[in-house]
Amino acid sequence: MGTMVPVLLPLLLLLGPAVPQETQAGPYTLSFLYTGLSRPRKGFPSFQAMAYLNDQPFFRYESEGRKAEPLGPWSQVEGMEDWEKESELQKAREDIFLVTLRDIMDYYKDREGSHIFQGRFGCELRNNESHAAFWRYAYDGQDFIEFNKEIPAWVALDPAAVNTKLKWEAEAVYVQRAKAYLEEECPGMLRRYLRHGRVHLDRQDPPSVSVTSHVAPGQNRTLKCLAYDFYPRGIDLRWTSADGAQETESGDILPSGNGYYQSWVVVGVPPQDRAPHSCHVEHISLAQPLTVPWAGPQ
Ligand SMILES: *[C@@H]1O[C@H](CO)[C@@H](O)[C@H](O)[C@H]1NC(C)=O
Ligand SMILES: *[C@@H]1O[C@H](CO)[C@@H](O)[C@H](O)[C@H]1NC(C)=O
Repeated sequence: MGTMVPVLLPLLLLLGPAVPQETQAGPYTLSFLYTGLSRPRKGFPSFQAMAYLNDQPFFRYESEGRKAEPLGPWSQVEGMEDWEKESELQKAREDIFLVTLRDIMDYYKDREGSHIFQGRFGCELRNNESHAAFWRYAYDGQDFIEFNKEIPAWVALDPAAVNTKLKWEAEAVYVQRAKAYLEEECPGMLRRYLRHGRVHLDRQDPPSVSVTSHVAPGQNRTLKCLAYDFYPRGIDLRWTSADGAQETESGDILPSGNGYYQSWVVVGVPPQDRAPHSCHVEHISLAQPLTVPWAGPQ
């Protein structure tokens, strides 16, 4: 038998200023995840491209429909991207990507097998400056090849990648283009996207917090503090006891699947313990840390 004592606090009064400023520092990222399968199945097309702005899905493209489609709030932002043009670009990328997967399978003389090829690339802006960029591929979950923009060159991380490198560096201009993509084109696109939709990345949604208590015979009482529906992801959640001692630290922070995050933290309290315990919550959306007391055994 357990008892559940939910405590829901009205948080609106505690809201800090959430007005995005023109000089927001970021970081902001634009990144892409490509996945190619040698044996597509229902629901798993041979090629899928996902684009992200920070941690938010931005658009999806699949080999089935061959259309780049904006996702979530980004489908409401007018003039952010020319989706026809984006679809054409992704089609061309898909072709190169799947040829590379075939080349690797040929190298390993395994034309019939079930294999997965993944690419990740993107760039980051801080204070409007290009800060970091990356471009790498993995075959069956192992590092395959990555671009080093300082050399600049593709660096083979797998025997089969030596051939890929030869192909992708067949002309000097290919390497210069890859470097320019990471250092200029990608940050340029990201700046343009920020001009249209930064408000969606700068949103600050405060956590709702619920404190519950559960006790089973012969065992400690479990106090659970759940924070949910907050954005962005970072949160500090802990139980503290009356003397201020910190009892726990934040647990995992998980996406709720609706564009928000959730996290919880539990502490075990011996049945005879009558001391007050509180859940302490810090989040960028809160002007000051929030303390939610556990009301004690009812
Ligand atoms: C950001 O950097 C770009 C390229 O350097 C420049 O054109 C633009 O004016 C800058 N924007 C701001 C707000 O400083
Ligand atoms: C109950 O909690 C106390 C202190 O929090 C801990 O030392 C003890 O091991 C716990 N007992 C059980 C049965 O979990």
